[in-house]
Amino acid sequence: MKGVVLAGGLGTRLYPLTLATNKHLLPVYDRCMVEYPISTLLQAGIDRIMVVTGGPHAGDFLRVLGNGRKLGIAHLEYAYQEHEGGIADALSLCEDFADGEPIAVVLGDNVTNANLAAPVAAFTVGAHLFFKKVPDPQRFGVPAFDTGGVLLRIDEKPATPASDYAVTGLYLYDARVFDIIRTLAPSARKELEITDVNNRYLGWNALGWSELDGYWTDAGTFASLYYANAIIARERGWIAPDALAGHTVTP
Ligand code: G1P
Repeated sequence: MKGVVLAGGLGTRLYPLTLATNKHLLPVYDRCMVEYPISTLLQAGIDRIMVVTGGPHAGDFLRVLGNGRKLGIAHLEYAYQEHEGGIADALSLCEDFADGEPIAVVLGDNVTNANLAAPVAAFTVGAHLFFKKVPDPQRFGVPAFDTGGVLLRIDEKPATPASDYAVTGLYLYDARVFDIIRTLAPSARKELEITDVNNRYLGWNALGWSELDGYWTDAGTFASLYYANAIIARERGWIAPDALAGHTVTP
């Protein structure tokens, strides 16, 4: 399996921090944010990686990641997203890189210690999502289940969430994902939504899911960026283990 890190966008929710650099290069304790999703892929045994970036500071990624060898990446490619077309639009740039193989996709602002090695090894066809219980599901894609626990649909940022779970920004897809993206229409926020991709797989009865083990957060808002920093500071032993007790990330 090959890996994709999606690190484009303008990071407007983090203005003014993102006026002078790309969101995914902001610090999360002692590393640049993008190194965390890369670590997630490497830990799962995936060392052929494409980073999709965009916006005015895309060149800064070369300074941070170079050819990837220092981080343990065997093969690193970059793609440049010309417009702010959304996550699925960014993913569409990876079709040649994927070259028919399944891909593990991680959003560049997702920080987790979850080990994806087993689900990656078990993956064959369709798509696989990872859910995590969160205090603020309305900020995310949210799965809706029937009373028997069967997945019915994914709602993107619902005002009234149907469950307490977030769809995390870690996804496994077979090569049909690129055919699906070609058929998508832009959403109300004029983006090609990854949630529409996932609902398509669900309609085909080809969507698996599991609950993500360990901690997980995005880092795309002031509160979640601060929280991600605190999680890593705790992991490095710099702040006490109970320092985040009772913490929620709702901005
Ligand atoms: C995106 C997806 C959303 C997902 C989230 C995970 O939201 O659209 O479904 O739950 O990433 O981080 P964004 O943070 O781009 O608004």
